[in-house]
Amino acid sequence: MNIHSEKILIIDFGSQTTQLIARRVREQKVYCEIHPYYTALAKIKELKPSGLILSGGPRSVYDTGAPKCDPGLFELDLPILGICYGAQLMVQEMGGVVEKAQKREFGKSVLDIKYYDGLFTGLDSNTDECQVWMSHGDRIEKLPDHFSVSAQSEHSPYAAIRHESRPLVGVQFHPEVAHTLIGTDVLRNFLFTLCKCRPLWTMGSFIDTTVDAIKQKVGSDQVICALSGGVDSAVTAALIHRAIGSQLTCIYVNNGLMRTNETASLLKFFAETTHLKVLDIDAVDYFLDELQGIVDPEIKRKKIGYGFIKIFEEEAKKLGNVKYLAQGTLYPDVIESVALDGGTVIKSHHNVGGLPDIMKLDLIEPLRELFKDEVRLLGLELGLPDEAVFRQPFPGPGLGIRIMGEVSRERLDILRQADVIVLEEMKKSGWYRKVWQSFAVLLPIQTVGVMGDERTYENVIALRCVDSLDAMTADWSKLPYELIGRISNRIINEVRGVNRVVLDVSSKPPSTIEWE
Ligand code: XMP
Repeated sequence: MNIHSEKILIIDFGSQTTQLIARRVREQKVYCEIHPYYTALAKIKELKPSGLILSGGPRSVYDTGAPKCDPGLFELDLPILGICYGAQLMVQEMGGVVEKAQKREFGKSVLDIKYYDGLFTGLDSNTDECQVWMSHGDRIEKLPDHFSVSAQSEHSPYAAIRHESRPLVGVQFHPEVAHTLIGTDVLRNFLFTLCKCRPLWTMGSFIDTTVDAIKQKVGSDQVICALSGGVDSAVTAALIHRAIGSQLTCIYVNNGLMRTNETASLLKFFAETTHLKVLDIDAVDYFLDELQGIVDPEIKRKKIGYGFIKIFEEEAKKLGNVKYLAQGTLYPDVIESVALDGGTVIKSHHNVGGLPDIMKLDLIEPLRELFKDEVRLLGLELGLPDEAVFRQPFPGPGLGIRIMGEVSRERLDILRQADVIVLEEMKKSGWYRKVWQSFAVLLPIQTVGVMGDERTYENVIALRCVDSLDAMTADWSKLPYELIGRISNRIINEVRGVNRVVLDVSSKPPSTIEWE
């Protein structure tokens, strides 16, 4: 069964929640892709979707220059769900009227359902949790011909609408957000009742299809993959290994800037449970020599990045006869995201590269269609250990950018010991998986302390713990005081050379997650 034989296309009008819509659809085991609103009609037809979802967006449909899809979309014989801006656009394009609302409707609202069919199949007048989440300044004032109202809210006489004979529906509220308690029912009804999709998109079926595709593409050629210790590269390697076995060689460059045991468990797993070839390259001396005397964060980053590429290239060359490079690029990096700002359309392709073009290798990116949470599920399905699958993100330049000032063996040693304590306590208390990242930073200053009867003059460790969904924004984690206290006590007592621990209470923006 081809898991892509049934797919939903999400047409993006620049909403903050477009990716969330995609994740909600995929949670229902239906494959979907996000495409920008200016995607040509011919391309949409070629993709043969089972249905379309028009996202919300920050503009007003009646503005000049407001983003519009090809009106031919509404003539296709396809189910369409318009969400907020998407619903308003459908109404306007089909002859109805959208105007500025007297009162903005923002936040929770209660839905009064008038039509228990279509999007509201399975709900009934006894459904007491008809709470929905609204966020709009415009509202539908007049429906196009052949449309009827399906639900109302206090400020939206047309909170949900439907075409009387065609599978065209629209909602003023956002079914994709958690505050819309009937959101999952609404999406499921669209997918399974209106689009007649089946729940085929599972990690098992993804593995089967992808393994076949990799086998076909690679044939008898050789593939290399850089293992960083992170989730994405580990899952990429495991998946490709399942497809082509010994034709894959992984290269792990130990740059001396890893956390204690950062990759040990992963390398052990690969060694013990698969026959994956891993070249474990010891380049510690090279990196630490390069970093000697360097304090500028950007120069540090460049030196580390350059060193990695140099060593990776040398090793790849030694292997000879390699045709493909495998990378763990994820879907959020390849979506042609739409950002609308004051009428200007900014089309931004994220940087999806990792290694330079000069390597002249063809890319294999088997995770290109997946979101991070799906990669984790895939990792578990492939048998990777929990510890590797639920690891917090770790930056490419490693501890090099968590030591303020010069990086030296001694300072790495201090930071590693403090960092182990942070991780141990976070894991023991169950907080490790609740936060986005938690780590220690070594500051370039010394402060006065007293230990026993002795005056000390030693290093300061900063504790950085953040909550985040995508690392674009973050807030400092509100850890329990006892946990913070325990971490601080242990670091000061157990790590020689540290006599003070401070807590970082900054959010991103304006700060960043890492200190350099
Ligand atoms: P910042 O510090 O910019 O970090 O708020 C955002 C997220 O990215 C990680 N990070 C990196 N990851 N190479 C990486 O692979 C890097 O050079 C790098 N710099 C920061 C950081 O840990 C956080 O999750």
